[in-house]
Amino acid sequence: MEKRNQLYEGKAKKVFATDDPEYYIVSYKDDATAFNGLKKGTIAGKGVINNRMSNRLMKRLEAAGIPTHFVEELSERDTLVRKVKIVPLEVIVRNISAGSFSKRYGIDEGIAFDEPTVEFSYKNDALGDPLLSEDHIQALKLATKDEVALIRKYALAIDKFLTAFWKDCGVTLVDFKLEFGKTSDGTIILADEISPDTCRLWDSATGEKLDKDRFRRDLGGVEDAYAEVMKRLMAHE
Ligand code: TMP
Ligand code: ASP
Repeated sequence: MEKRNQLYEGKAKKVFATDDPEYYIVSYKDDATAFNGLKKGTIAGKGVINNRMSNRLMKRLEAAGIPTHFVEELSERDTLVRKVKIVPLEVIVRNISAGSFSKRYGIDEGIAFDEPTVEFSYKNDALGDPLLSEDHIQALKLATKDEVALIRKYALAIDKFLTAFWKDCGVTLVDFKLEFGKTSDGTIILADEISPDTCRLWDSATGEKLDKDRFRRDLGGVEDAYAEVMKRLMAHE
């Protein structure tokens, strides 16, 4: 499929039209931001790793019955995806306390929950992605009740699958963020990416952080951490 004009440039990816109105091409960048764009930087090679990792994970999720936007990896950084309209929700699943959860509720990081939690925030940079209750989603007409129920079901199924997958790689899946989209016929599918930018991944043996928190918190070794999780994923295949 032919890459046409650029439609959108996000913080970590660009989106291009193709010659088929039902498909887009996403192109992964090395740019990294944190704290709603306040912190900016580059993680060398990140785009290549995130593209490959996200595609491999989505392929597995498809096989496990979760519909995704993934169609075909075109190059190191470019992937053909189904065109969707993004549902403006950041869907966050947590297995272990960390990040904003620990900060908001004043608890240490690293406390395992009995059951995973699902939370939603409003995907709106101007407002700083505020947390939403399920009633708020209805009030703001961001998604219907049925759509929220389906998204929640998919999010928990994805958590179950990815937790087991990463465990086999010696990696603990602490939490992650998903985005869903709607195809032209209204079907909800998983979109965006699944990568160390959007997941907290801790080495199961040492607890070492192998994700974007190394960039957010200036821990150093960012590129090495991304390369390490990619290596573990490839070794699993
Ligand atoms: P949080 O603890 O900062 O709310 O983050 C929860 C998870 O969501 C974590 O794995 C990082 C991911 N995340 C994103 O992918 N994008 C974002 O903008 C934020 C704030 C978090
Ligand atoms: N990428 C997000 C931003 O800059 C934040 C993050 O992942 O921490 O807003």
